[in-house]
Amino acid sequence: MQRKSLDMTRSPVDGTSSERGPLFRSRALLLFGATGDLARRMLLPSLFNLHHEGLLPADFEILATARSSLNDDAFRLFASTAIRAVIPVERLAESAINDFLRKLRYVRTDVSDTTDCVNLAAALRADQRQNLAIFLSTAPQLFEQTISGLRHAGLASTQTRVGLEKPLGTDLQSSRFINDAVMRVFAEENIFRIDHYLGKETVQNLLALRFGNSLFEPLWNSSGIDHIQITIAETVGLEGRTAYFDQSGVLRDMVQNHMLQLLALIAMEPPTHFNATAVRDEKVKVLRSLRPFDHESVLRDTVIGQYVSGTIGNGVVPGYVDELDKASITETFVALKVHIDNWRWRGVPFYLRTGKRMPARRSEIFVQFKPVPHSIFEERGSALSANKLVLRLQPEEYVRLLVMTKEPGLDREGVLLRELPLDLSLTTAFSGRRRIAYERLLLDLIEGDSTLFVRRDEVEAQWRWIDAIRAGWMRTGMFPEPYAAGTWGPSAALALIARDDASWHALNT
Ligand code: BG6
Repeated sequence: MQRKSLDMTRSPVDGTSSERGPLFRSRALLLFGATGDLARRMLLPSLFNLHHEGLLPADFEILATARSSLNDDAFRLFASTAIRAVIPVERLAESAINDFLRKLRYVRTDVSDTTDCVNLAAALRADQRQNLAIFLSTAPQLFEQTISGLRHAGLASTQTRVGLEKPLGTDLQSSRFINDAVMRVFAEENIFRIDHYLGKETVQNLLALRFGNSLFEPLWNSSGIDHIQITIAETVGLEGRTAYFDQSGVLRDMVQNHMLQLLALIAMEPPTHFNATAVRDEKVKVLRSLRPFDHESVLRDTVIGQYVSGTIGNGVVPGYVDELDKASITETFVALKVHIDNWRWRGVPFYLRTGKRMPARRSEIFVQFKPVPHSIFEERGSALSANKLVLRLQPEEYVRLLVMTKEPGLDREGVLLRELPLDLSLTTAFSGRRRIAYERLLLDLIEGDSTLFVRRDEVEAQWRWIDAIRAGWMRTGMFPEPYAAGTWGPSAALALIARDDASWHALNT
């Protein structure tokens, strides 16, 4: 029987209203924090790419703002330098850059000054004010003031969308405070909370893999799966973000958002539609089913570490406190054994780990299937390994299924079986450049598709669960254990999974 194929493409922006929210295209982007690190490394290069490919409306403009006193020319120079530093030279035609720079304007704003906010609004045409996308890439402490400044300046129409960059608070209470402040002015459907992992192709591919194939889903539960591992390993250290990171630690910087979003996509039930409501309804169910940590389980099932000096590649790197230049008990590594209390995942542990200054940059989801119920090969001298599925998210992009195969031969000394990979390399299968995650997210913000953005109830479920872990660490007096930079974290992280007769999937390859 012919079935309809799963349509992962976006439907045209036709002004109709649907499950995907009211669809109208913004005429301008108002970018707060335009001189910041994120704008320089990600947002401006992404906007350049969108423009270069003709994906922005012809009369689209970007009004950049920050506290620094710059004029249009100085900001354009900043943007041009940022773009040249990121975009490969073969895509950098002078005419394309100049064309893009003409779309940029700069207005200095102090958001605490209402006159500044009114001047900012005056820099936009009336039609732009009515159909505006706003991106807040500033410290979250400024969100409330910025939002009320926007309202005061008449920039908060029902046709205005606002993108919020992380961190959305430091715990449940502060995240509620931010969300309340934003929701006093904007409706939920116009709030686009960013988790840049959702803009990554390989992360979206998790949905295609799970729900575009009939092969995996029947096994995707406690009958078929033994356990799942999610790793995000980074080689970078503090990268100059000392104040932010030292207050945050990897639990809040990486697990609260990126890792829990990956977990939700991997564990959720099939949504009935591929739209913002259906996908996020399923994700939030998973996030609410996470078993809360208590004192006992925090001690047993969490490991925290902090890197000391060590070697990565050929270079020696300093320890965390040396980089920071003061004593600190902030965790730069965390490993967790997590349970999802629902029918599908009963008894299936999820092991999560993430850390800075690991030996290699790798993000991966590893699915360990259960062994066959009875091996017919044992009496012929051959051992079986249970199937494994490796979803490498970055830097390589592949899906690898490990299956048992017979080695060719006459089997006089027994049947020889070997585990071999069925490989789907996305890099080889799909030529063309890899997009910056923010390209997708900025375009979705401009076009009004919130499927790949995080809803308030998700953020709050994430924080509630994270807060219990931090409370457990504090009450039980858990401190990070040292690990040498260039290793896979403290030895306790190995023990965490070894206790269950499993081991972390080797990520050296
Ligand atoms: C950010 C964190 O959200 O994600 C950083 O604040 C981290 O600490 C980064 O380095 C990792 O993102 P990516 O896309 O490089 O994996």
